[in-house]
Amino acid sequence: MHAVCLPYPAQGHINPMLNLAKLLHHKGFRITFVNTEYNHKRLLRSRGLDSLSELPDFCFETIPDGLPPSDDNNVTQDIFSLFNSLSTNGLEPFRHLLRKLNGGSVSPLNSDVAPRVTCIITDDQLAFPMEAAEELGVPCVTLWTASTVSLVCYAHIPRLFEQGFTPVTGAEGLTKEYLDTVIEWMPGMKDVRFKDFPSYVRTTDPNDGMLNFILKEMASGFKSSAILLNTFESLEQCALATILSVVGTIPVYTVGPLHLLVDRIKDDRLKHMDSNLWTEQSECLEWLDSREPESVMYVNFGSIAVISPQQLIEFAWGLANSKQSFLWIIRPDLVEGKGAILPTEFVTETQGRGLLASWCRQDEVLRHPSVGGFLSHMGWNSMIESVSAGVPMLCLPNFGDQQTNTWLACTELGIGMEIDEDIKRDQVEMLVRELMEGEKGIEMKAKAIELKEKAKEASGPGGSSFRNLNKLLTNVLCT
Ligand code: UDX
Repeated sequence: MHAVCLPYPAQGHINPMLNLAKLLHHKGFRITFVNTEYNHKRLLRSRGLDSLSELPDFCFETIPDGLPPSDDNNVTQDIFSLFNSLSTNGLEPFRHLLRKLNGGSVSPLNSDVAPRVTCIITDDQLAFPMEAAEELGVPCVTLWTASTVSLVCYAHIPRLFEQGFTPVTGAEGLTKEYLDTVIEWMPGMKDVRFKDFPSYVRTTDPNDGMLNFILKEMASGFKSSAILLNTFESLEQCALATILSVVGTIPVYTVGPLHLLVDRIKDDRLKHMDSNLWTEQSECLEWLDSREPESVMYVNFGSIAVISPQQLIEFAWGLANSKQSFLWIIRPDLVEGKGAILPTEFVTETQGRGLLASWCRQDEVLRHPSVGGFLSHMGWNSMIESVSAGVPMLCLPNFGDQQTNTWLACTELGIGMEIDEDIKRDQVEMLVRELMEGEKGIEMKAKAIELKEKAKEASGPGGSSFRNLNKLLTNVLCT
């Protein structure tokens, strides 16, 4: 069996796809993992290597993303431009790659001749691989890298549109009352508000590209041979109970948390193959070793979110005034404009109890016994990694599915508290203290630990995700 895996070219999509690829390799598949040329260079640069794999049956290939070259070739690309460019320009180079793979052309690392491609695994944001799979006559499976609650919300955006909720019109616009409107008819998601829907519904522009794209996609329905969800049954019961009404007859498999399933693989070369686009700073883990158990607030806004210089300052003083220890990851392109400039008084004030770094190995940081809380932008990978480690969260959603993930953490699961969009240092200070020392923090921690156990169960032998992965092979990929 030979699987070609094509992630959407952003960190939060590459990571779960690489985990899935490792699991398939472990099951005996040959893997061709396809990055964009841009990201391939970043992956090599971030670890100073010439090649990404030491394994003979795990090869990396590239296709161009179709975007014009940029001045700085080590930054997060604009996700909407990438999306448009790949939708228009992706199919031809991908077809070319498949022809090359099927012609027996081999990567320099391998001495054998590659078997023909037998399946394609694509990201939910990339539709063109489905066309290529149809031409080849092989199954194409979609990996939905975000939450299932967000999938259910996306599927109901056409109804918000029909009811005139989005795009937002009228003199009052996007008021607090408007955002807080409870959408009573949402199946399974009790008390979900307009503001908990993926952020694209907040537009006031009837020609908004993203909203129109979602409406079009939802009208044409899902077309792949199966949909894989990086979640587990007890985490998103509310959404999984209604998923069939969303995807129709397509088989759905919950196979998460993917990184926990990978943890069980014995092959170290496979396990340690990582996909960081930035160079990881190992001193973060060493510093955590020196801290007391559950004493550190970990702060990270993922790979795409951007904040303003003013928001950075409010966060900084919120953290400083909370008097808690913290590990704060400030990506080189996190802050708009001139970058992250922190006041010297902040640095002096937090000396000895705060560590600033630019990138870390997040899943290991979250599992470190010194970490007691996670202040997060609520990307789905961050949330599922936090749940798997039993760490409660402070939530500051930025865009996309992050709003819906916040609803899941705060309202449905009780493992998160939301920070107001209009960030103020006093609120950050108060919530950090509450999470690390307060009654609510203790309750949330207990619930997070329960979920950690359930995640372990789902990904362990006999668990739902473990079984579903085997079913995927028997029913779809190896037929
Ligand atoms: C994006 C979207 O924002 C997210 O909502 C969607 O679900 C997936 O795509 P991103 O914003 O980067 O992803 O967030 P997230 O989903 O949390 O993914 C980030 C990944 O990078 C995580 O796997 C995290 O462990 C990793 N990471 C992040 C690190 O390893 N180190 C870091 O310092 C920061």
